[in-house]
Amino acid sequence: MSYVLQETGENLSKYEETFLLKSVEKRLIATGVKSKKDYLSLLGTNRDECLALKDSLLICYSDFFRNPITFAIMERHILPSLFSLKQREHQKEIRIWSAASASGQEAYSLAILCEELIATSNIPLTYRIFATDIDPAQVSKASEGVFSTNMVGNISLKRLNTYFKKQGDNYVISTLIKNRVIFSQFDLLSNEAYCPPSSIFGEFDIVFCSNLLFYYKPKHRLSIVEKITKCISAETYLVTGEAERETLSGYGFREVIPYSAIFQMNKKGKFVDI
Ligand SMILES: C[S@@+](CC[C@H](N)C(=O)[O-])C[C@H]1O[C@@H](n2cnc3c(N)ncnc32)[C@H](O)[C@@H]1O
Repeated sequence: MSYVLQETGENLSKYEETFLLKSVEKRLIATGVKSKKDYLSLLGTNRDECLALKDSLLICYSDFFRNPITFAIMERHILPSLFSLKQREHQKEIRIWSAASASGQEAYSLAILCEELIATSNIPLTYRIFATDIDPAQVSKASEGVFSTNMVGNISLKRLNTYFKKQGDNYVISTLIKNRVIFSQFDLLSNEAYCPPSSIFGEFDIVFCSNLLFYYKPKHRLSIVEKITKCISAETYLVTGEAERETLSGYGFREVIPYSAIFQMNKKGKFVDI
């Protein structure tokens, strides 16, 4: 695997072993190579295959309102109580970070929920969603906001009619929603900035870090969570994927509602349980 580091600069040792192994097996099928030993030899002589393996490790599948329990609780409990709290404290803005936004469905789903809440609650608040991903190709795809019919299957007809425009076989997100989401490239494992420069100072009310922690070894998962805790407060909600809930419980966060995958930091301080 050192060939991949040499050829692409990507250190594969940060990835979970079972995930890495499965990805190599997929590449064996794609290339028609018979054994792992032969595949290692191929990596040693073929830079394109090193790049293909590296790219195959960035799984970018996403969906609108992906985890229905999480999004239902967001819609019915978390966002309404956050909006009321901000109003009581005379604050004007809700700040949300979608920290591995892939092609944008997560960020756009959150924007739809905020729009609906503003319309029904009459609370004069504004909101901004900062959506980041390590992969520039995903960032550019997300910014376009164009989705095929298959990709909008989770969206109700009412929301499709309100927040999308049909263009041929595709659905294009409305300008109203698009203008609320700021997309940029950001690596959660880099040491450069502690929060996305597009957000200037962080201070998020909600951070989604979902469906990426489990690809990494515990040491790197911890680095990601530590980075995020630098720009959140004890009140911030941190949201993971359904299959990553145990990771955050282990890092000193408590789930605000069982099985919601929505967490807050333990009041005593960061990482108390590690
Ligand atoms: C499976 S998608 C999850 C998308 C979305 N959060 C969801 O739950 O539907 C994982 C995303 O994490 C991004 N990613 C992986 N490692 C990252 C890192 N170190 N920093 C930022 N994004 C990363 C990938 O590029 C990919 O788009």
